[in-house]
Amino acid sequence: MNSWTIRTKLTFWYTSIFGGALILFGLLTYLAFSYANNKSVDVGLEEEAEGIAYCVRVSKDSLKDYVTCISNEKDERSSEKYIAILDQTGNLQFRSGSLANDHLPLSSDRIMEILSGKIYFKTIRITKGRLLRIVTVPTEDNHQLIQIGIAVNKNIAPRIFLLALTALGCLAIIGSWFGGWFMAKKALRPIDCMIKELQNIETEHLGKRLAQHLAKDEIYELSAVINEMLSRLEKSFNQTRQFTADASHELRTPIAIMKAGIEVALSRQRDIRNYQQVLANTLEDLGRLSKIIENLFILAKADAGRYEIQRERMNLCPVFADIAEQLKLIAEPKNISVFVEKVENAFIEGDELLIRMMLLNLADNAVKYTPSHGTIILSLSKNNAQVKILIKDNGIGISQKDTPHIFDRFYRASESRTSDSAGGGLGLSICQWIVGSHYGTIAVESELNKGSTFIVTLPAYQI
Ligand SMILES: Nc1ncnc2c1ncn2[C@@H]1O[C@H](COP(=O)(O)OP(=O)(O)OP(=O)(O)O)[C@@H](O)[C@H]1O
Ligand SMILES: [Mg+2]
Repeated sequence: MNSWTIRTKLTFWYTSIFGGALILFGLLTYLAFSYANNKSVDVGLEEEAEGIAYCVRVSKDSLKDYVTCISNEKDERSSEKYIAILDQTGNLQFRSGSLANDHLPLSSDRIMEILSGKIYFKTIRITKGRLLRIVTVPTEDNHQLIQIGIAVNKNIAPRIFLLALTALGCLAIIGSWFGGWFMAKKALRPIDCMIKELQNIETEHLGKRLAQHLAKDEIYELSAVINEMLSRLEKSFNQTRQFTADASHELRTPIAIMKAGIEVALSRQRDIRNYQQVLANTLEDLGRLSKIIENLFILAKADAGRYEIQRERMNLCPVFADIAEQLKLIAEPKNISVFVEKVENAFIEGDELLIRMMLLNLADNAVKYTPSHGTIILSLSKNNAQVKILIKDNGIGISQKDTPHIFDRFYRASESRTSDSAGGGLGLSICQWIVGSHYGTIAVESELNKGSTFIVTLPAYQI
C-alpha cells in the first residue's frame, strides 16, 4: 500500500467506505424483508388458528365443515396445509389436510407455556428444500391445543431479493471505483500541475514561482507556502553566491598586492633594507589575509550551524575590564584616551570566548576609526533583565547612507576604505551573529565626523 499513489489510495478508501455502507444497508434491508416475509405467513397462520379455536368452541360440526372447506380449496397453498387438535397432554385427537403425516410433537413444558396463552411458532423441514411453518394455540377453554401448519417454499422471495441486492451492490461498488478514480483525478490535477512546474525550477532559475490557484483552498495555501519557501531559498542562494564572490575578491586583492611587491623586489638586485621592507609589507598583508580567512571560517561555521556555543553563567565585569586593558594598549600608539565610565557586576548566560571576540571587534573598530588624540568611552551597566554595553568614540563616524549596511558582510563605509588600517568588513557581521545567538541586540548611533556609539544589549542571567 506504501507504493500506491494518492489517487489509488483515495479511490480505494472511497470505494471501501461506500462498499461497506452499501453492504450494511443491503444486510439490514434483507433482514427486514425476510422478517416481514415470515411475519406475513405467521399472521395468516395465527388468524386461521384463532378461527379454528372459535369453531371448536361453537361445535364439533362447524370444525368438520371448516376442515372440509379447507380440503376442497383448490389452490396449492391450502392443499399443503394441515390442522391438528391435541389434548392437554399433547396426544393427537384430530388431524386433517394433505400433510397429515406431519405434525409437531410438543414437550410438556412447551404445552404448559402454550396453555398459559403463549402462541408458539416453529418451522420444520418436511422434504428437501421445503419447510413447514406451524403455529400452536390453546382453545379458549384451555382444554385443547390447535396446531395448524402450512408448507412454504424455502425462502424463495428473500433469496431473489438477496440476489438482486448482491447484483446491484456489485454494480454500485464497481461504479463507485470509477467514480472515486475520476473524482481523485480531478481533485489532484492542480497537484500534478504543481509537480510539473516545480520540476522546471532549477537552482539557476529560483526566481520562478508557482502559479497561484484561483480558489482560496488547500492548494492555494500549499502553493503560497512553496512560493514563500522558494523566496527564502532564492535569498539564501543569492547570499551564498554573493558571499563566495566577495570572499574570493577580498582574498585575491591582498594576494595580488603581495605578488606584485615580491615581483618588483626580485626584478633587479637591491640592498638588504629594500628586501626587509618588502618582507615587512608582505607580513602585514599576510596578517590581514589570515584575519579575513579566520573571520570567513567563523561565519561559514555559523552559517552551517556547526559552531558549538558553550553557554554558561558568566560575569561580564572581569571580561569587560580585560578588554578595556587591551583597548588601552592598542590605543596607545595613536594617543587615544580610553575611559571606563561604568562597570557593574552583570551576569549573563553566554560563551565567554565569543563575547570576548565581539567586544574586541568593537574595540578594534573604535581605535581603527578614531584619529590620533581621540577619546573612547566604555560602559557596562545592568538594568532589570538587561545588560547594556556601550562603546563610544569621537572618530570619523558613519554617514546616514552607510549606517544601515555596516552589519552586512564585506561592507565598508567609503570614509574608512581609504584608511591604511581598513579591514575586510566582516567584524560587525560576526558581532551581529554573536549577539543574535545570545538573544541580544546590537545597534549604532553615529554622526559623520563626530563619532559613533555601539550599543549591545544582552539578557541578564536569571536565577
Ligand atoms: N567605530 C566606528 N567608527 C566609524 N566607522 C565604523 C566604526 N565601526 C565600524 N565602522 C564602519 O563599518 C564598517 C564595517 O565594520 P567591520 O568591523 O565589519 O569591518 P572592518 O572593520 O572594515 O573590517 P574587519 O573588522 O573585518 O577587520 C567599517 O568598514 C567602517 O566603515
Ligand atoms: Mg572591524
